Amino acid sequence: MTKSRRTFLNEAAQIAGALGLGRFAWNRFENQLNAESQTPPTHSINSVSTPTMVSTWNHGILANQAGLEAQSQGGNALDMIEAAARLVESDAEGLSVGIGGLPDRDGHVTLDACIMDHTGNAGSVCFVQGVEHPLSLARRVMEDTPHVMLSGAGAEQFARELDFPQINLLTPKAQKAWEKWRIESDYAPVINRENHDTIGLLALDHEGRLAGGCTTSGVAYKMHGRVGDSPIIGAGLFVDGRYGGATATGLGEAVMRTVGSFLVVELMRQGLSPQLACEEAVHRIMNSMPTEDLQVGYLAMDRDGAIGGHAIHSGFNYAHTIGDEAALIDATHG
Ligand code: GLY
Repeated sequence: MTKSRRTFLNEAAQIAGALGLGRFAWNRFENQLNAESQTPPTHSINSVSTPTMVSTWNHGILANQAGLEAQSQGGNALDMIEAAARLVESDAEGLSVGIGGLPDRDGHVTLDACIMDHTGNAGSVCFVQGVEHPLSLARRVMEDTPHVMLSGAGAEQFARELDFPQINLLTPKAQKAWEKWRIESDYAPVINRENHDTIGLLALDHEGRLAGGCTTSGVAYKMHGRVGDSPIIGAGLFVDGRYGGATATGLGEAVMRTVGSFLVVELMRQGLSPQLACEEAVHRIMNSMPTEDLQVGYLAMDRDGAIGGHAIHSGFNYAHTIGDEAALIDATHG
């Protein structure tokens, strides 16, 4: 006869006690079982042989397509991330990533980006001006230098040494928006609940290698010199190929204070699904600061390609692409 769920849990709890498992470990296991039914539908195939990408916001659909295309041309997970990021960084219409990004309060477009592979290699650049593809620069920091992060003038010098093209990132559209904002110069961070403000990307290639990336122009009209979560390894992005990867979108200050993406991956390492790990990391923010006026969303993928996403407020969505199949998914929230 099949045991009821409750009988199973009671018996398992007794065994856990006999084995000396801590209450925390047991609660986690029980929560995972109880919450399985809340996991939002994903069209997950969970096969490491099927290249998969998941990216924040609706610009993730085209980004994922570019990433999968790079994979089909022989690229690995890092190439998928880089190709996807470059597409969005070059889109002058987007007001939050690369060229066209909204400037800081002094009118300068400053970019942050990072990249990480399944073995823990990481590269990052922050407070970079005049470079169209900061994520590619971050990759070169990872691959060509002994460092993880370069900032400001040093990162720009590295870009010049590599012959990265120098461009004016401030488009007429972004300049017009900044000039309008300057009339009141309200320095409160502008965080959209329902609009993209970063692209965070996770990719799994045909050999089961996981990689992640994050690229942004940061919070619009920020103070000059402000750096958000996106280039901070562990905050805007974290990947551990043995367990999974996570990335963040929203108000970077809240993500940095809780080392959000590392937390999501750590929770997956402890056994939570990507969905429950994102939920717990969002709750960590909600339990530690007022969140009425701020949005944060997390996105995660485990080493088998299962995904999850959760945000403080409604409005966050993400693009999930497996092979030729793409879907834009509304994240759960609250
Ligand atoms: N999440 C982007 C930023 O806060 O800069």
